[in-house]
Amino acid sequence: MNVVAEPSYTEGGALLLDGNRLRDLTVGHLRARIEAAGSPAICLATVLVGDDAPSRVYVNMKHRKATEAGIISRSVELPNSATQQEVEQAVAGLVTDSNVHGILVQLPLPDHLDAEPVLAMLPPEKDIDGLTDRSLGRLVRGLPGHAPCTPLGVMRLIDSYGISTSGQRAIVVGRSTLVGLPQMLLLSRRGADATTTLAHSRTSDLMSVCREADIIVAAAGQAGMITADHVRPGATVIDVGISRSEDGIVGDVRFDEVQSVAGAITPMPGGTGPMTIACLLENTVAAAVMAGVSC
Ligand code: GUN
Repeated sequence: MNVVAEPSYTEGGALLLDGNRLRDLTVGHLRARIEAAGSPAICLATVLVGDDAPSRVYVNMKHRKATEAGIISRSVELPNSATQQEVEQAVAGLVTDSNVHGILVQLPLPDHLDAEPVLAMLPPEKDIDGLTDRSLGRLVRGLPGHAPCTPLGVMRLIDSYGISTSGQRAIVVGRSTLVGLPQMLLLSRRGADATTTLAHSRTSDLMSVCREADIIVAAAGQAGMITADHVRPGATVIDVGISRSEDGIVGDVRFDEVQSVAGAITPMPGGTGPMTIACLLENTVAAAVMAGVSC
């Protein structure tokens, strides 16, 4: 765990859960660890299909941070016209390549392609995104494997800022398989030990349920849905939502009003997004260790 020293606070006095800072600490920590082990070759491979501009930005960022951490990154790019068979062949090559420790297939794939059979090819050891059926099954069953990076990043933020989850009441708003469901499992599992409620679009009186929580993770993708009235004074509020609006990218939490009620809060941007990348790199190093690399 990287402990963030000299924390900063919002104008309203909430502890700022600074994802950029914790990502940089994590990258520095991984780099030091890899160098101390004699700089073994640890390799992350990404697969990018088509010309979706945001996907390219995400993938480039992942490569840049991998390089900073001392992780080798390999980029496989296929054109928008790639067939299902071509994508599957590219992934098959990475699955059998023992020099590649982690594989990330950037989603979404172009509309004419089916992501499911592509993801199903990833063995749990190399699924550093933690998003395949087998990885999620391992998480449910408490077996070793990679947890999805966004909810894992939320746990790192909570831990590194010294916020206790044990015996606390947590609520996760949103039940997606990539964030909400695994977030509930990570908060509730042994060691984290929160008592976790999973709320969703059919939850009645969401405001009252949220007000009972010590920790709120907003992951519904509904811009500004969490207001100051949803938050018990002193609670921790984590924003995982991303929506595009006229004002640009906005989260699920109304930061300006919530920061004067919450005890701790993530900024948006600069909260959970950077931690997703930090955890991707953490999972890649863990994948290399699972494959026998000493690090
Ligand atoms: N597309 C947007 N975010 C992600 C992510 O974290 N992983 C993958 N594979 N695709 C994404």
